[in-house]
Amino acid sequence: MTPSGGLPQHIAIVMDGNGRWATKRFLPRLAGHRQGMESLRRCIRACLERQVGVLTVFAFSSENWNRPADEVSGLMELLVTALAKEVPQLLKDGVRLHFVGDRAGLSDKVCTGLDQAELATAANSKLILNVCFNYGGRWDIAQAAARLAAQGQPITEMALHQAMAMAHVPDPDLIIRTGGELRLSNFLLWQAAYAELFFSDKLWPDFDEAELDRAISEFNRRERRYGQTSDQVVSPGPGQKAA
Ligand code: IPE
Ligand code: IPE
Ligand code: MG
Repeated sequence: MTPSGGLPQHIAIVMDGNGRWATKRFLPRLAGHRQGMESLRRCIRACLERQVGVLTVFAFSSENWNRPADEVSGLMELLVTALAKEVPQLLKDGVRLHFVGDRAGLSDKVCTGLDQAELATAANSKLILNVCFNYGGRWDIAQAAARLAAQGQPITEMALHQAMAMAHVPDPDLIIRTGGELRLSNFLLWQAAYAELFFSDKLWPDFDEAELDRAISEFNRRERRYGQTSDQVVSPGPGQKAA
């Protein structure tokens, strides 16, 4: 059941635990990544049903290049295959795809797949799905600053924010990390400033609607104060804005 109360409009997820899911079953790690794709499909459907506006998922980090070469190439292959397989359904479901990350490090084949998927779904607006691929929060801050510097623009918070690869969506309200680790691993460093964090012990392939609803319920119990006091948030005085 979908919890009542405020719905996070932007949910971001560190989809972690694929490798452990596979290892527990004596399967190769790539089998875990494949199962992780199924979990993502289920999660997208759940977000559509719950009318979440934006879903951002961490699929491959700047640091994941440090994994064994066969796992890295397997992940690249999985992305290309998944795009070919999933885009027609995403198109029908009203999902708009965005890829967020450093394309400079990706092969032509991968880049073409990303471009085609973005173009094909560009008219959709029901759910914005940001797939962070070859992405790192530090990369995003650095590329935004470099862009401003090259244009001779002053580096202000607002200008940086607008130059970032995630500028097309509001900051995430809720960041979920599966797999039991309590860290961000270079995900949305700038945008996470006021996100509520939810850590799940479930491995990503086991993440389901019930766990998503648990995260949303927990989100609904949080008081977002943005630096104010609790009293200010509960009954804002004249000229004050409730967060
Ligand atoms: C997350 O699962 C997916 C990627 C980083 C690509 P992992 O592959 O990190 O799974 P664990 O953490 O080793 O279980
Ligand atoms: C974070 O998971 C990256 C993705 C889920 C794509 P990792 O498994 O790479 O993170 P660490 O290495 O445990 O910090
Ligand atoms: Mg991991």
